[in-house]
Amino acid sequence: MLIVKEIAELQNLIRKEKGLGNSIGFVPTMGALHAGHLSLVNIASKQTDFVVASIFVNPTQFNDKNDLANYPRKLDSDLKKLEETSCKLVFAPEVSTMYPKEDNRQFNFGELETVMEGKYRPGHFNGVAQVVSKLFEMVTPDKAFFGLKDFQQLAVIKAMVKQLKLPVEIIPCPTMREHDGLAMSSRNQRLTDEQRKNAPHIYKTLVEARNKASEISVEELKVWVSQKIDENVFLETEYFEIVDEEQLKPISSWDEPVNKVACIAVFCDKIRLIDNIAIQ
Ligand code: PAF
Repeated sequence: MLIVKEIAELQNLIRKEKGLGNSIGFVPTMGALHAGHLSLVNIASKQTDFVVASIFVNPTQFNDKNDLANYPRKLDSDLKKLEETSCKLVFAPEVSTMYPKEDNRQFNFGELETVMEGKYRPGHFNGVAQVVSKLFEMVTPDKAFFGLKDFQQLAVIKAMVKQLKLPVEIIPCPTMREHDGLAMSSRNQRLTDEQRKNAPHIYKTLVEARNKASEISVEELKVWVSQKIDENVFLETEYFEIVDEEQLKPISSWDEPVNKVACIAVFCDKIRLIDNIAIQ
């Protein structure tokens, strides 16, 4: 597995692979890798010939300085984990390489960025679009793989690819869960034992909500979920929203003829966890 920090070297190696007729699969990450990331690499290797992963904690997508400072950074162990996968190249640039000068681009994702994560983390998706568009230009992948846990991020990235007319196919991949249902996330590593024991209450509540959806109204379900989460002293709901799968517009009635996804953000003390579930 090749480990590269500079753009020119990355691009030379990718040019060589493309010259050999190999397709490029790309898994962008911020490191602190878990089985969810490794499953993206695995899916990528089934669909493309040469899998590139990036490890870069992108400062422009953090609207909270503490969150950026506390984000786990584990390059050595990440590289060991990737060595055991079919990843062929890891791009792990410095901040100065990705941002030799300030990126002042302002994307407009309309309503996609005014709900849920967009509402509670202003500027977050602009930062994600900045870094992912730069990475796409550097790696020039045929396909890029993203987890469905970050449901809204996926929608924003698809919109960005469309706006910038980038020739890359975005592949959504299933959320990986721990044995007790907790969605895998790098942030889970920061949970204390006690918090970790209580965090699965989030997914359990989402499953119950999905089962209850036919019995009560959308508004009633929203109230029910927030109360159910907040009953647990370790958890506090930031938002719970039921949106249409494509535009992410909040729905107000089950009769709306769209595929529905229930999305949640919960604070476990200072650690913010997100998850979602499809509602039939
Ligand atoms: O999902 C993530 O880990 C990040 O938002 C991404 C896509 C790697 C961009 O920094």
